[in-house]
Amino acid sequence: MRPEIKVRIRAATRADIPGVVQCDLTATAPGEDIGFGGPMSERTFADEGRLNSAWKDPDRVDSLEVIVALYDGQVVGFVTVEDRGEVLELHTINVLGEFQRRGVGRQLVRWVEERASKGGKQAVTLGTSRNAEGVAWKSLPWWLSLGYRITGEEQNAWTRSIGPRVREIRMRKVLA
Ligand SMILES: CC(C)(COP(=O)(O)OP(=O)(O)OC[C@H]1O[C@@H](n2cnc3c(N)ncnc32)[C@H](O)[C@@H]1OP(=O)(O)O)[C@@H](O)C(=O)NCCC(=O)NCCS
Repeated sequence: MRPEIKVRIRAATRADIPGVVQCDLTATAPGEDIGFGGPMSERTFADEGRLNSAWKDPDRVDSLEVIVALYDGQVVGFVTVEDRGEVLELHTINVLGEFQRRGVGRQLVRWVEERASKGGKQAVTLGTSRNAEGVAWKSLPWWLSLGYRITGEEQNAWTRSIGPRVREIRMRKVLA
């Protein structure tokens, strides 16, 4: 097991964009997410120019709030969240490739859950994908280990942008 590192977590700023893009680009091996996610060429978080254009100071991209994890001053992970009234949707989470399996993702998720609790939310929700062959994206066991439970599966605009028969696995963790 790799040693855990303790990260500092805070709202992102525009200056974090290069670090955020690196996390997005290295979190998944090239081609690994084909059939599970939209094409890299269309992903806002995979390109500094696109992310800069979409960024709304201080820390937003469209309806999403961006949060970063720092280790020794370097952005090693980020998460985006969306306020959906009674719940907080955890939209995207990516940890820099070389920093994975060192507790960074878990600390980011815990931070989001605390934030949701303090904001009076009932639950944190999220979606992951199941490809056309019925295979779930590899992070599903990780979400289950963190206490998230499957609430259903659906096809929607996002899954149709990936391909026919792709489904979104919806998950939820009710907060204490
Ligand atoms: C998923 C992700 C955010 C997890 O963050 P992380 O910092 O690597 O994970 P943590 O170190 O907090 O947790 C690691 C533990 O979770 C479990 N785990 C992590 N990835 C796993 C996987 N793919 N399958 C099963 N268990 C996994 C393991 O038990 C691991 O502990 P171990 O190394 O001692 O076995 C990160 O790996 C990542 O960015 N992946 C690519 C992007 C992605 O899949 N995002 C989620 C989309 S729904």
